[in-house]
Amino acid sequence: MTDRIANSELRSKLMSADEAAQFINNGDTVGMSGFTGAAYPKALPTAIADKAKEFHSKGDEFKINVLTGASTAPDCDGVLAEADAINYRMPYQSDPIMRGKVNSAEMKYQDIHLSHSGLQVEQGFFGNIDVAVIEVTRITEEGHLIPSSGVGNNIEYLEEADKVILEVNEWQSLDLEGMADIYRVPHLPNRTPIPINNVGDRIGNTYIQIDTNKVVAVVETNAPDRNSPFKEPDEISKQIAGNFLDFLEAEVAAGRLAYDRFIMQSGVGNVPNAVMAGLLDSKFENIQAYTEVVQDGMLDLIDAGKMTVSSATSFALSPEYAEKMNAEAKKYRDHLVLRPLQISNSPEVIRRMGLISSNGLIEADIYGNVNSTHVGGTRIMNGIGGSGDFTRNAFASTFISPSVAKDGAISAIVPFASHIDHTEHDAMVIITEYGFADLRGLAPRDRVKKMIAVAHPDYRPLLEEYYERAAKNKFLQTPHDLATAFDFHVNLAEKGSMKG
Ligand code: COA
Repeated sequence: MTDRIANSELRSKLMSADEAAQFINNGDTVGMSGFTGAAYPKALPTAIADKAKEFHSKGDEFKINVLTGASTAPDCDGVLAEADAINYRMPYQSDPIMRGKVNSAEMKYQDIHLSHSGLQVEQGFFGNIDVAVIEVTRITEEGHLIPSSGVGNNIEYLEEADKVILEVNEWQSLDLEGMADIYRVPHLPNRTPIPINNVGDRIGNTYIQIDTNKVVAVVETNAPDRNSPFKEPDEISKQIAGNFLDFLEAEVAAGRLAYDRFIMQSGVGNVPNAVMAGLLDSKFENIQAYTEVVQDGMLDLIDAGKMTVSSATSFALSPEYAEKMNAEAKKYRDHLVLRPLQISNSPEVIRRMGLISSNGLIEADIYGNVNSTHVGGTRIMNGIGGSGDFTRNAFASTFISPSVAKDGAISAIVPFASHIDHTEHDAMVIITEYGFADLRGLAPRDRVKKMIAVAHPDYRPLLEEYYERAAKNKFLQTPHDLATAFDFHVNLAEKGSMKG
């Protein structure tokens, strides 16, 4: 194991996670690695949670601020939330225990566009970064870090933190070395264009260079990344995937897309995974992804010779596919590039790529405003993640969702979205199992019919009634009846169904 720590100075700082936790104090701001269940520290979070419990048992305060790349896993966000060890968290989470604590105001959470998060760390919005806790695959003789299964905001945390704790995880394949492409976006006002013209362009180093003097502890671990398995695509997901393909075919027919080298971005979740399964049997060849995370479906597309290259910042693989990656990383390395989050999600590069984005939603309204974060406008689900980075800058932005949730009690198409994180100016195509609503080129009133056509048939009459009522008002650019605009949500809260 210690051969994974080739630098003797850093090897001399080896200690246990409990010992390393001494460097983390009440009130500290800690920048951690971690992105969608991958590359997060496996040992320190539990050690910090134990320390917090010990403090709390004596009636003493112990809470830290935790900044990461994105969501982590039960043995990171979960244990810290359970121990009430977090005061403030950003930029994204998806842990059920943490979600509960956030929604009951037991901790604070700021949900930030992921492309902004590292930038705002550099700009000092989160105060001083006291400690960085970063998982790596290996440390070279020169003291350079070989990233593990994700990069996220690691460079920003390593640069900004006063102290650095490294976790060297033996579970991560040594063959990951060479997959990362580490390029530093120059700080303002010296910013220059990011020189990526093609999805697979490599513009940096395969390692992260750090100030080794800042390293106070190195901890050895041997633990897997943890992500939940995807559900087998059900009938509805397959229909949505079919409608997504119909949309792509329509783009080809309109001369806006070719079967060769289509560039995709895909959000995480069961439905996006079903869409990728649909692409396996499609006419599209040499598919590329300029996206945020590498998912199971992409490995299948690579294996089938349908996908040539994917650029991302991290893996978001099911346990089965994470093992497959570990066994075959050498092969996948030729097809995957892991970049810092500021680059994987860079609006500049995304716009240049001309990609088609595809993300999930909680609800969309009849004009195409999308809510992807807050149930009933107040209860956070996960966060916006990178969906805003890609949606605003895609050549065509799509949202994919079943038309109803919770056995039909909730409609994904509502009169007025109860929270809006992708406005009608950004969301272009809404896709459900009933088809796709292409809103491009349409003024708000002309969108309504298309949106109602992709709603569940049970909700169509209610949406039509609402629009008729709204259209009787005085101002008609985007007709609304404010007195009843949230009736669907009020019905759900009071009667358990949006139907009322
Ligand atoms: N009200 C209440 N719950 C809803 C809902 C609504 N309007 N719409 C969906 N849900 C629930 C589902 O019932 C399901 O709950 P369950 O896990 O208890 O079964 C859960 O949300 C997930 O929904 P699902 O239909 O399986 O879709 P998904 O896995 O694609 O998730 C989002 C949908 C919106 C939650 C998810 O896409 C998300 O967090 N998006 C924002 C971040 C993002 O886009 N990241 C990728 C950027 S690169």
